[in-house]
Amino acid sequence: MEKIYNKNDILEEIFTRAMKGPQIFKNKSVLFHDYIPRRLLFREDQISRMGYLFSYLIRNQRSSNLFIYGKPGTGKTAVTRYVVSRLDKISKKINRPLRISYVNCRLAGTEYRAASALAKDVELQVPFTGLAVREVFERFKLKVFSDRYPVLVILDEVDALVSRYGDDLLYGLTRMNDETEKANVMIIGISNDVQFKEYLDPRVLSSLSEEEVVFKPYTPEELESILWDRVSTGFRDGTISREAVTLCAAISGAEHGDARKALDLLRVAGELAENEGSEEVSIRHVNAARERIEQNRVVEVIRSLPLHSKLVLTAVIESLPSPEGRVKNSITYGKYSILARDFAGQALSSRRFFGLVKELSVLGLLDRRIENYGRRGGRVTTIALDIPMNMIRDSLIEDPVIGELFNT
Ligand SMILES: Nc1ncnc2c1ncn2[C@@H]1O[C@H](COP(=O)(O)OP(=O)(O)OP(=O)(O)O)[C@@H](O)[C@H]1O
Ligand SMILES: [Mg+2]
Repeated sequence: MEKIYNKNDILEEIFTRAMKGPQIFKNKSVLFHDYIPRRLLFREDQISRMGYLFSYLIRNQRSSNLFIYGKPGTGKTAVTRYVVSRLDKISKKINRPLRISYVNCRLAGTEYRAASALAKDVELQVPFTGLAVREVFERFKLKVFSDRYPVLVILDEVDALVSRYGDDLLYGLTRMNDETEKANVMIIGISNDVQFKEYLDPRVLSSLSEEEVVFKPYTPEELESILWDRVSTGFRDGTISREAVTLCAAISGAEHGDARKALDLLRVAGELAENEGSEEVSIRHVNAARERIEQNRVVEVIRSLPLHSKLVLTAVIESLPSPEGRVKNSITYGKYSILARDFAGQALSSRRFFGLVKELSVLGLLDRRIENYGRRGGRVTTIALDIPMNMIRDSLIEDPVIGELFNT
C-alpha cells in the first residue's frame, strides 16, 4: 500500500493499518449497548409471561401491573423493549390502537421530565418547564381518559425516580384505573435495586407488584452462548479464540452474571487486539480488557468525587507503609488534616472523615476493617486500598487542585 505519511509520523502506522480495512471486527455496532439483538436467549419464560399480560391490552381488557427486577445486565431492558415492540406491531396490524410510553427514569433525570415524557407519548405537548409536576400529570390523565386507548406505561430504572422524588407519580399512575371505568392503564416498573421495594409505600408496592418477573443472573455457560451469538455477527470468522470467549463469560459470570459486562469485555478485547495488529483475540487481550475497563470505572468514580474525598484517598496513599499494606485510620486522619489545610483551607472533623472513608469503601476504592483487640485492646479501624495504587494515582493526577502532588 502506498505510504502517504511521513516516516516519523506516529499516526502513519495507525492510519495505514486502518486503511487496510477491519481486521477483527465485521460489524462492531452489534457490541454496543444500544444494539437490540436478533434474539434474546434464555429468557423464554419472561418473554411469554409478559406477552400473556400484554394480550389483555390487545383485547382492551385490564391487565395486572408488573414489577420486574434483577441484577444489572440481566436483560430486563432488552427483553421488555423486545416484547413491547412486538406488542406495538401486532396492535397496529390488527388495528387495535394502544399507547405505549417507555421512560428511563435515570436518563430522564427529574420527575418533571419523566412526567413530560409520559405526556408526550400520549401526544400531549407540555412546556419544558414552568408547570408543576402535578399539573403535567393531571393533563396526562385527562388526555388518557378522553382518548380511551389502553395505555402501557414502562418506568425503567424506576428506583432512580423514587429515591429522589418519592412515589407520588407512581401512586398517581397506579390509581388511574380506580378513578374511572374508562381507564385502562398498565404499569411496568423495572429496577435492579434489591432495596427498592423498601422505599415504596405499601399501597403502591402491592399495586405495582400485582405480578412480578425476576431476571436471574446468567450462568457462565449462558453468557458464553450469548457471546457466541454476537461473535458470529460482530467478528470476522476465526478472529477470536474459544478460550477468550470462555474467559469473558467466566469473568462476568463470577461477578453477577452481567451480560453487559461480558459484551464490554469482548468488545474491548477485540479493540485491543485490532490496535496492536493481532490476527486473533486471545486470553491476553481479555485480561488487558478487564484491566482497561476497571481503570475506566475507577477514573470515572474518582473524577466525580468531591475534593475532601480525593484528599482522603491521597492521605491513605501517603500514609500506607507499602502499596499493599494497611494503616490505622487515626494515622491517615493526621495526614489528611495537613493536606486539607493546605489544599482546602480547612480539615473536616474526624467523624466526617470516617464517614468519607466509609463511602469510599462502599465505592470499592478502600478496604476498611475493624479489628478487635479484646476487652483491653479496644477496637482499631485500619484501611487499605481495594484497587492497585497506580490506578488511583493515575486518576488523581488529573485533578486541577491536587494533581500536582502526583506529578513526580
Ligand atoms: N438473553 C440475552 N441475549 C442476548 N443479549 C442479551 C441478553 N440479555 C442481555 N443481553 C444484552 O446485554 C446487555 C445488557 O442487557 P440489559 O440492558 O437488558 O440489562 P438490564 O437488566 O436492563 O440492566 P440494568 O439493570 O443495568 O438496566 C444489552 O446489550 C443486551 O442486549
Ligand atoms: Mg436496564
